Amino acid sequence: MRQQLEEIRKNAEAALGEVSSLEELDAIRVKYLGKKGELTAVLKQMGGLSPEERPVVGQIANEVREYIQSEVDNKAAQLKSAAMDAQLLNETIDVTLPGEECEVGHRHPLSIVLDEVKEIFQGMGFDIISGPEVELDYYNFEALNIPKDHPARDTQDTFYITDNILLRTQTSPCQIRAMEERKPPLRVISPGRVYRSDAVDATHSPLFHQIEGLVVDEGITMSDLKGTLDTLAKKLYGPETKTRFRPHHFPFTEPSCEVDVSCFKCGGVGCSMCKGEGWVEILGAGMVHPKVLKNGGIDPEKYSGFAFGLGLERLVMFRFGLDDMRMLYENDVRFLEQF
Ligand code: DAH
Repeated sequence: MRQQLEEIRKNAEAALGEVSSLEELDAIRVKYLGKKGELTAVLKQMGGLSPEERPVVGQIANEVREYIQSEVDNKAAQLKSAAMDAQLLNETIDVTLPGEECEVGHRHPLSIVLDEVKEIFQGMGFDIISGPEVELDYYNFEALNIPKDHPARDTQDTFYITDNILLRTQTSPCQIRAMEERKPPLRVISPGRVYRSDAVDATHSPLFHQIEGLVVDEGITMSDLKGTLDTLAKKLYGPETKTRFRPHHFPFTEPSCEVDVSCFKCGGVGCSMCKGEGWVEILGAGMVHPKVLKNGGIDPEKYSGFAFGLGLERLVMFRFGLDDMRMLYENDVRFLEQF
């Protein structure tokens, strides 16, 4: 039996010397140490030994088993670390190779200018509010002093959902909603989308953007309106910018005006941007009509206010020198990435 054990040890040693994979190693472990393995088979015969021999052979058998077990463990560790080395070598990253450039998105020109306008008004203490794009006829027209038969409706044809519900043609309905929801003193701007049943061309779109402004308090006068809008023009187009207030008519303001700024491109001399005028119109404004204040639940005897409406697309086109507003909606990356 001693001889048998010695042979097992030798054979195992030889087999382990040649092993080259973890699978092979496991097969060897099973062959020699497993329940049905060679060593177990020998141990089962120990019952036939004399009482003197048994402990001696038992000790040798144990030594052989421990020897094989520890050799198997060593070999397993070696094979695992060799496998890890091979994998690491395989996965080596060459950090000197040029990377793949990732396109970074950025703000749309409409958002760039809108953010600027918001910041300018926030700096003057205005809150930013919003109103629904699907609006009641009452807020879009009626409460703004534009009754059913008023000619102003002709220039603002829109998309009707029912006789009384429509896509708003202007952000002015936000004036009434703001007055209903808040008490004076009131200082808000309300940017958003508006809709008109217009065909698309270089200066028209059935969907565009406006920014409404409203200030209501005791003792508000036309000079507050002028100071505020002059500040806006100077912050948007530079401190040299001049403003010009021309009389105009809007049903919801009295008196009303249109506001021009000196052309920021030519400084007022006349160029292609201002069509030789030296001035470009940027907004409509006026003192809130007493009827409109009343419709908003505000006493016109006690309070007065001014309002204004800016076309965002116009501002953007002047700002970046664009001559076709369709470029703002086509989402052509070659155009958008220039801003
Ligand atoms: N809502 C007008 C439009 O779409 C613009 C406007 C003019 C708004 C005068 C105002 C205002 O608040 O006072 O043509």
